[in-house]
Amino acid sequence: MSDLFKFIKHPEFVDDRGLLVSLEAHKSVPFDIQRVYFLTNLKDSKRGFHAHRDLTQVLLCIKGSFTLTLDNGRIREDRTLDNPSTGVLITNSMWREMSNFSPDCVILVLASRHYDENDYIRNYDDFLESVK
Ligand code: TYD
Repeated sequence: MSDLFKFIKHPEFVDDRGLLVSLEAHKSVPFDIQRVYFLTNLKDSKRGFHAHRDLTQVLLCIKGSFTLTLDNGRIREDRTLDNPSTGVLITNSMWREMSNFSPDCVILVLASRHYDENDYIRNYDDFLESVK
């Protein structure tokens, strides 16, 4: 098994009222959180298909499930994400694709930087060139 997928377990507090998961910068989230976004109402389609030059993210499937594909230019692997307190840490130079969304899927993403389209590598050949 490769180390492409870096799973982070975040603190969870379960009682008879339900589940609370805590995400804190410089604790279980290893960076300053500059941006939070989420994906919901996901259709039977695929998303992602890009890498970042300088961005660290923690991605959590907080409801439902989907398939995350990570590719570092040498190794490519898929994992089903379906646990609301287990995030995946995605660092620079990692191509990612998302697919197979359950109808109730909600994906929460914490990012180390503000949105910047110039930070995206959206062409796979350019990505391979960048990781050579
Ligand atoms: P896109 O990169 O296509 O999403 P995905 O990686 O899930 O396939 O982003 C969709 C749109 O949302 C695109 O117009 C850029 C915009 N966007 C922002 O404005 N801010 C953000 O933080 C993100 C992640 C996307």
